[in-house]
Amino acid sequence: MEKHKHKPLLKIVDSIMTLLSFAGLGLVLWIALEKRNLALFAWNPMFRNFYLGLVILAIVIPVLVFLDLRRHKKREQKTSLGLVSYILVILGLALALGIPAAEGTFSTHADKAPQLMLLGKSDTQGNPELALVWYTKKPEKGKVFYGLSAEHLEYSVEEEKPMQSHGLILSALQRGKTYYYSSSETPEVRSFRYFPQYDGGLRLAISSDAHVGAETNDLGATVDILRQVVDPKNDYSLICNLGDVVELGNKDSQIAAQVELFSHFTDSLPLIQVLGNHDGWFGGYANWAQTYYPKSLQEEAQLYHRFDITDSIHIITLDLEWGTESYDAKQKAWLLKQLDSLDPNDVIIIMDHAYFFGSSTEYQGVPWYDNQQMITTFHQLFVDHGVDLVFSGHDHQFEHILQDGVNYFIVGTFGGKFDDSPTYISPGSIFRDFSHHGYADVLVKEHEVSVTFRQPDGTALYSWGKNL
Ligand SMILES: [Fe+2]
Ligand SMILES: [Fe+2]
Repeated sequence: MEKHKHKPLLKIVDSIMTLLSFAGLGLVLWIALEKRNLALFAWNPMFRNFYLGLVILAIVIPVLVFLDLRRHKKREQKTSLGLVSYILVILGLALALGIPAAEGTFSTHADKAPQLMLLGKSDTQGNPELALVWYTKKPEKGKVFYGLSAEHLEYSVEEEKPMQSHGLILSALQRGKTYYYSSSETPEVRSFRYFPQYDGGLRLAISSDAHVGAETNDLGATVDILRQVVDPKNDYSLICNLGDVVELGNKDSQIAAQVELFSHFTDSLPLIQVLGNHDGWFGGYANWAQTYYPKSLQEEAQLYHRFDITDSIHIITLDLEWGTESYDAKQKAWLLKQLDSLDPNDVIIIMDHAYFFGSSTEYQGVPWYDNQQMITTFHQLFVDHGVDLVFSGHDHQFEHILQDGVNYFIVGTFGGKFDDSPTYISPGSIFRDFSHHGYADVLVKEHEVSVTFRQPDGTALYSWGKNL
């Protein structure tokens, strides 16, 4: 009689415990379904082994619980599960919830201050559009006022409905002019210059791998670079940030801290942002996209863009986080279309996170130099389409490499910890530096282009130029 009375309750407990024993499998599946995570395991044997351990544990837990259940049933014992099964299920649950929690997956998103983002589309005058982009936890109807005088913000633009990811385009801007603006998010008036001239050309600043939040990074160098680049007397038109801007892109707190730091500068200088492997993994790309290129701006894609800086200067940014892993058929078709439509005599600048050619060393036995897949996939394409300059990060160094007329620059020097001295030198390497932070100062004139590697205080480390 006693046994009979407990049976329905036991059945419910058995079903719940059996279900919960699959929690670990849920976690490993969630991780495997994101291709960016698989790229991490391919590049990092330590994380790969940790993940394989997790897979084994995730399989073993439900099998042991099932066997325990059968053993108890056969012996017609009072309880269907032993203490070990309960401990295993709790362990699986702790992993399934604890790992994403520690990674920040369940954290709520913080507000992020406005930044000026250059967009991959041009206005009717052929000038690249600029948007003020910010994020609010609470959906709001964003509004921006702007104009040519601080006292009279004559234009305004407003969102049609309340949203969290805000992106408002400041249209019909004139080159060389200073604009003033305020927004519903930051009512005090700010200003920026839209493509000022410098020495008869346009000046861009490019750097990568700030790794905000890493603790091994040099935040002082990052801030000094930003300060140098936004200084009005230096006349930069743009700052291009080529990824790994944070250490853990899946942690909203790190992105919030990074935007808090950068926005004091990027609210007065237009920004181009590229996704790095550290920004994108474990779902980080979604945080990144909503922070920098919100869907509401209706660009063709959120992770790769073409910017027509002038009629004859074009920047193409690509989503290559580790290497070719993120180069899918859609991105490939898009890139080929862009390159085919450009005149090879124009100045074509490619920017992405992962390096193509590069001098470096092995990390956990994996080579972090000349990425053969990247070279095979892109180098000839760049040669054939007259690509002039290629900028990347990922390796934390300054490097200039010349291959078949294409100049490759590595600028992983925005503040992240330097890579170890190279054990492999890329055959086309002309200049390398593994001990200075800084940025690339790119000056494009009508018949001349130059690239100078500068330290955070602006001091030149290396200079190169060519006639077009
Ligand atoms: Fe990096
Ligand atoms: Fe990286």
